[in-house]
Amino acid sequence: MTRPAVLILLGPPGAGKGTQARMLQDRFGLVQLSTGDLLRAAVAAGTPAGREAKAVMTAGGLVSDDIVLAILKDRLGEPDTAQGVILDGFPRTTVQAEALDKLLAQTGQRINAAVSLDVDDAEMVNRIAGRYTCGGCGEGYHDRFKTPAVAGVCDKCGSTTMVRRADDKAETVGQRLAAYHAQTVPLIQYYEKQGNLQRIDAMGEIAQVAKELNAIVKQSVA
Ligand code: AP5
Repeated sequence: MTRPAVLILLGPPGAGKGTQARMLQDRFGLVQLSTGDLLRAAVAAGTPAGREAKAVMTAGGLVSDDIVLAILKDRLGEPDTAQGVILDGFPRTTVQAEALDKLLAQTGQRINAAVSLDVDDAEMVNRIAGRYTCGGCGEGYHDRFKTPAVAGVCDKCGSTTMVRRADDKAETVGQRLAAYHAQTVPLIQYYEKQGNLQRIDAMGEIAQVAKELNAIVKQSVA
């Protein structure tokens, strides 16, 4: 039996992890699993985990490993993940990476590839400042880099509700970037040592990054 694929997208806030994960999901039939989206859903639902996560997310820090791991394990227990998953924004700390390795060992799975989307800090700020998403289906847009065909109308679902994230304010972005450098950058070496790391220069256009990522996914999932 073929094992479900596990792909990891690493990269700073605004690197394009969500944009690329949604494209891979459509193209390869894998399930995008974003811990940021799962946490925002918990915050919106007002669950105990969501209430605890809210203040940390608003301040641009990382939510505790315990909360994130509990949310991720629950989501991985849902049947659709048997198609294979793209982990978008997880793991973000060494504790999370080690926990993922243990979890996959228990289910006989392995990481097919951990891809780092490399973007410099100034570009990341540009990307986050112009970002908004469709309130209907979650499709991502950007004031300059990715506008819908008809202004204010989602290309995918036709919704006219567009939303901007509370943590995309300039004062929070610096904190998110600091958390990335301090706690997530060490994972590049972690996956390099495992022999799973691939790197993409994600400063290029969305389509160019997608082309390089598709090639990696095709090769690593085969
Ligand atoms: P999360 O939701 O994961 O946010 P993030 O990592 O900060 O990443 P973003 O969603 O901001 O960016 P992205 O890389 O997905 O970029 P996007 O594709 O949107 O996490 C939010 C918070 O939740 C964290 O701060 C933390 O508190 C908590 N959290 C989440 N996971 C956690 C974990 N595992 N542990 C602990 N805490 C956790 O692209 C950005 C914009 O740029 C878009 O508008 C897009 O259209 C545009 N764009 C994309 N690619 C390109 C390109 N190549 N060229 C030009 N524009 C582009």
